[in-house]
Formats: sequence, C-alpha cells, structure tokens
Amino acid sequence: MHPILRGFLDKWVYPTGFIGPGVDFRLRQTERCLPLWDKLVLQAIKAAGTDLASGSDEYKAARARGGYAAEGPFMSLKQMSTQILSVEISEQPKYIDLQRMRARQIWDEVKHGQLHADVMLRGGFIKREEDLMDDPRANTQPKLSYFGMTAMFPHIHPLARAGQHYYNESMACLGIAATLSVIKDDLIRHQLHSQSAEELMHFMEGKYQIDAYALTPADQKPIEEVFDFLLRPWAPEPSRALGGSA
Ligand SMILES: [Fe+2]
Repeated sequence: MHPILRGFLDKWVYPTGFIGPGVDFRLRQTERCLPLWDKLVLQAIKAAGTDLASGSDEYKAARARGGYAAEGPFMSLKQMSTQILSVEISEQPKYIDLQRMRARQIWDEVKHGQLHADVMLRGGFIKREEDLMDDPRANTQPKLSYFGMTAMFPHIHPLARAGQHYYNESMACLGIAATLSVIKDDLIRHQLHSQSAEELMHFMEGKYQIDAYALTPADQKPIEEVFDFLLRPWAPEPSRALGGSA
C-alpha cells in the first residue's frame, strides 16, 4: 500500500467518534475500496510524472479544462439538487444534517469550477472565462450518471449519496495529495491546495452519514448498491484534474 493512502487511512478513515452497526458496515465497504484507492494514488503519481516530462505547459490547461467540465454549476446543480430532493418534507427533521451539508456542497462545487477557470485565466490559456464555451474539452466529461439523473426521477434514497462521498471524494483527496507530491508548479499547487480541504469535508460527510445513520440493513442497502455501482470495472476514476486519467 502506498504511504499516501496509509496516511489517509490512519488520519481520516479509521478514527471515528461512533461505534455500532454503521461503523461496522463502513469498514466492510472500506475493504472493497482499498485496492482502487491504492491504484488511484499510483495512477495520479504516474500521470503527474508524465505531465512534467511533456516539456510543455499544455498539461496545466488540460487539467483545468477537464476539471472545469467536471465541476462547477453543471455538477453542483445537477447532483446536489437531486440529493436535496431525495429527502421528503416529513423526513427533514431526521436528515437535516444531510440537507445542510448538501446545501454547502452546491457552493463548494461552483467554487471548484471557478478555480479551474482561474488556472486558465492566470496561466494565459484564455482571455475571458467565456472563451471556454467554445471548447468542447471544457464542456464534456465521462462521469457516471447515477447522481446526475434528472431530479424528476426520484429513485435515490436520502443516504445513497454517502456511498459516492465515501468512495469518490476520498479519491479526490488522494489524487490531490499524490499530485502535490510530484508537481511543484505554483499555479497547479494553488488550485489543488484551495480545493483539498473541501474534498476532505465531502469525504468526511460520507463517513459521518454512514457511521451515524446507516444502522439497519434497510438503511445500508441503498448505500451498498452505490458501492456496487461505483466499483464496477468500467467505472471511471475522478477527473484528470484530481488525478484520474480522463
Ligand atoms: Fe468538486
């Protein structure tokens, strides 16, 4: 296991203020995630090395365009509003913590998209953010649609998002840490450091939701189904900006 993953596990995954069936369930799911988290760290380190060896600044623009397409209002409004709507009015007293964290994430993801626009602007790759509208690479991304499906399709359990937060947002944290271990460029480092605490908060939200709320088989099932979905062999990794390959 790579030391970056080992450190993340020791610091954030294993310590918990909870005991009981939610924690037990999360640790079982963690075992399933470990090989893919480790693979992501190695891949992010390799991708960063390839970027540095390219001898050009184009990799900075490629990362920023990929991140711009995968984050921002597009992802935020589609995914977070769907998740907020998964809690019915009568369930709000039970899930008010989840609602608040998701409301916060709407802003987080919009800001994340803006950080990528800033790399493009400050790096001199574009003159105005609007220039990105002419570039398909800043507007398309290969992410799974599970949480991006229309909010009119009420198929999602209030706790399902915890699976995505736990599995994917941890990869964002790991991808950032792995990339920072290789790339010394100020523009890239500024962008990654500006986002890293928020990725960690998103991961910790998933961890908290599972530990605190996934206490019965009925509550665990929709989360486990998300892990099943995300752990499929064809499922893509995080965007290139966060250490993935696409
Ligand atoms: Fe984000």
